[in-house]
Amino acid sequence: MQHICLISGVTRGLGFHLAKVYRQAGFHVVGLARDREKLAAMQKAGILADFLVCDLGSPSALDTAIQEMETRYSRLDVLIHNAAIQNTADIAGKGDYAGLIHREMQVNFLSPVKLTSAWLPLLAQAQGRVIVISSLLQLGPKRAAPGYCASKAALSNWVQNLRVQLQELKIGVTEVVPGLIRTEMTEQAAQKGVPPEQLAPLIYSNAHRDLIILPGARLAWRVHRFFPDLIKAKLLA
Ligand SMILES: NC(=O)c1ccc[n+]([C@@H]2O[C@H](COP(=O)([O-])OP(=O)(O)OC[C@H]3O[C@@H](n4cnc5c(N)ncnc54)[C@H](OP(=O)(O)O)[C@@H]3O)[C@@H](O)[C@H]2O)c1
Repeated sequence: MQHICLISGVTRGLGFHLAKVYRQAGFHVVGLARDREKLAAMQKAGILADFLVCDLGSPSALDTAIQEMETRYSRLDVLIHNAAIQNTADIAGKGDYAGLIHREMQVNFLSPVKLTSAWLPLLAQAQGRVIVISSLLQLGPKRAAPGYCASKAALSNWVQNLRVQLQELKIGVTEVVPGLIRTEMTEQAAQKGVPPEQLAPLIYSNAHRDLIILPGARLAWRVHRFFPDLIKAKLLA
């Protein structure tokens, strides 16, 4: 039987390359994102077997995606929470500071929580695995991105609890910690990051582990154990 893998945020960046790698490994890859045209093009190109159009920031769209998945499939082997947004927010500035952070929490943290709990019966059926893409920015606040950092810190903490709670159901949980990835997420990432096509195969081949620290994050992760303030100061800059 072909294994089923659902990946959020597949239309570009790391998610796109994860979809390619899992498809090449023989998985039935279901992609989730907002852009229907891009998803359909990926299906036509053979990168996706199926897709769900869903804005993870919308609770009603989440409900629809949850039902769609349950209608189409009776099991889920791998669930990869990859989609995320990073807003620039300044509490003393003019924008809707609380609104921006609320949306980041919804997309980056609360939607993985909701999808994982809704699809638990599918994951249990397959004794599957949940893979969560977190970030080095869980370790400290980046000045311009308070909501993103808070959402990744929440995600990382939740994953540790999830791993314990899912042990009895034999569902594995993997946290992936990237440093900068060369994607459109931020200008800095686009210029200085590690190419996502290098990282996706590493995630696939190490997916049986609890924690994967990716190239670009390893040095900071190690240093943080002994000198957390040093890393916090660097991230804050
Ligand atoms: N880039 C970095 O430097 C970096 C560093 C550390 C960690 N990460 C993490 O790595 C993961 C991938 O990041 P990336 O840089 O590849 O991101 P990206 O290039 O910005 O791509 C984000 C993907 O998420 C989808 N997405 C965004 N908002 C969505 C929403 N509301 N509902 C559904 N889908 C949505 C986008 O598709 P649509 O626009 O079509 O919806 C797109 O496919 C994220 O979890 C990120 O936090 C990235």
